[in-house]
Amino acid sequence: TKSISVGLLGLGTVGSGVVKIIENHQDKLSHQVGCPVTVKKVVVKNIDKVRDVEISSEKLSTNVEDVIHNPDVDVVIEVMGGVEETRDYILTALRNKKHVVTANKDLMAVYGSELLTVASENGCDLFYEASVAGGIPILRGLADGLASDRITKMMGIVNGTTNFILTKMTKEGSAYEEVLKEAQELGYAEADPTSDVGGLDAARKMAILATLGFSMKIDLDDVQVQGITEVTEEDLQYSKQLGYTVKLIGYAHRDGDNVEVSVQPTLLADTHPLASVSDEYNAVYVYGEAVGETMFYGPGAGSLPTATAVVSDLVGVMKNLRLGVNGKSAVTPQFPKQLKTEDQ
Ligand code: NDP
Ligand code: HSE
Repeated sequence: TKSISVGLLGLGTVGSGVVKIIENHQDKLSHQVGCPVTVKKVVVKNIDKVRDVEISSEKLSTNVEDVIHNPDVDVVIEVMGGVEETRDYILTALRNKKHVVTANKDLMAVYGSELLTVASENGCDLFYEASVAGGIPILRGLADGLASDRITKMMGIVNGTTNFILTKMTKEGSAYEEVLKEAQELGYAEADPTSDVGGLDAARKMAILATLGFSMKIDLDDVQVQGITEVTEEDLQYSKQLGYTVKLIGYAHRDGDNVEVSVQPTLLADTHPLASVSDEYNAVYVYGEAVGETMFYGPGAGSLPTATAVVSDLVGVMKNLRLGVNGKSAVTPQFPKQLKTEDQ
């Protein structure tokens, strides 16, 4: 049987996890999709960097063209980050009839609609499960498991870095700068952690969740954002003494055509289930008219958890290949075609 060849853009925290899972879970992967999966080419910025994953030097390149124009690459996995240039790379890959898996919420929150349209025009899959809440399969949960319901509200913790920081500051009295550094070393934070601590990363994820959950295009500008930079150690200690925990909460509510989406530090009673979601873990309540209350919980950042979502998307692409339904699969989380609410 032919093998499926993957081209990776990026071999950092997430990319190295992807290589490890493809290697360590090869039996399970090839059993599910009917052929072996091989990593053909890997694009990085610095070819000489020492890495915690084994990769033969002839597979490494610093030229993105070696993946997006490579006739031997079937699926492009984008785990390098960035927005404008990365959008161009993904558009090129799709036009070259390559399926794409990405973990990039910065990109999907802004260009998701366009990229998904180009993907389906080219008969390609574009999957992005890892872009929201790391290892938690929440996008498929919304697009597939809850497809029959009308979602009215979503609320939860969707940024691992800030949850890690708030947890350590509250429970261990650690200093903000010190814990932020630790979150960066553990690979939870973005290349520029300003988007984590400023709430923008969570806002991007809430825009994606609200777009999918409410079947309405929600722009990033529609999300009210406040991060944790102004939360002090005193705020956390006083709240704790009063029986409250501070969490960075993403909130999305739909009432008819009115939608409210926000990210802000919020006081939760210690007895609230979200108050006990610690470290880099995420948790999101999703409320549906028929189903009632559901909760999605798990690791929201980090190498192997995030890579699990990425490689599971790859399995999805490969299953669609066998069925010949790429670009038109029923469970692809599709952005709605409608304009955002105010424009309707
Ligand atoms: P890293 O910074 O750890 O890795 C980025 C990788 O991309 C590196 O291998 C880097 O090369 C390479 N790279 C960056 N820019 C370029 C470029 N211009 N040309 C070629 N190669 C480039 O990032 P992460 O793995 O943490 O994140 C990757 C993506 O996944 C981001 O979009 C992020 O938002 C998303 N994500 C991350 C999660 C996490 O927990 N870390 C969770 C969910 C999503 P080199 O190694 O040589 O520097
Ligand atoms: N920087 C992000 C976080 C990575 O901390 O949640 C996962 O998207």
